[in-house]
Amino acid sequence: MTRINLTVDGEKVADDVEARMLLVQYLREKLGKTGTVIGCDTSNCGACTVHLNGQSVKSCNVLAVQADGAEVTTIEGLATDGQLHPVQEAFRECHGLQCGFCTPGMIMQSVDLLKENPHPSEEEIRLGLEGNLCRCTGYHNIVKAVQYAAEHSSGAVEGAPA
Ligand code: FES
Ligand code: FES
Repeated sequence: MTRINLTVDGEKVADDVEARMLLVQYLREKLGKTGTVIGCDTSNCGACTVHLNGQSVKSCNVLAVQADGAEVTTIEGLATDGQLHPVQEAFRECHGLQCGFCTPGMIMQSVDLLKENPHPSEEEIRLGLEGNLCRCTGYHNIVKAVQYAAEHSSGAVEGAPA
């Protein structure tokens, strides 16, 4: 077992974990952060996307021990003071989800995308989300949601917690 110390959604946590434990397992099984979803376990679907030190990563592709000392934000840490993050609002407004299984990862990836490029073209959005799969929406409303977030709240998106 290895001792890890990290900050998850603004709270400091410390745990002993097996060296082989994935970050997504740690978040879900140890911390109960089930908003972060396992869709494939093979780095394909993006459902497990979280932010590691402000950058989106597929948490099924990161060991928990690699997050030692890091700051992790999950979908559960995006809203502040009961207010949805602007990208969450945009997904709701534009019906960017159906079953919602892919949604946490889509939103985390979209936040990172907009932080890097506050005014992306449709092509840039599609490219930026290519690592996140959705079997329900055909992607159109997801793309619209990212455009909506960029148009309506770019300042808030840029300033939002990473
Ligand atoms: S569960 Fe991580 S990419 Fe699918
Ligand atoms: S809304 Fe169902 S997989 Fe995306």
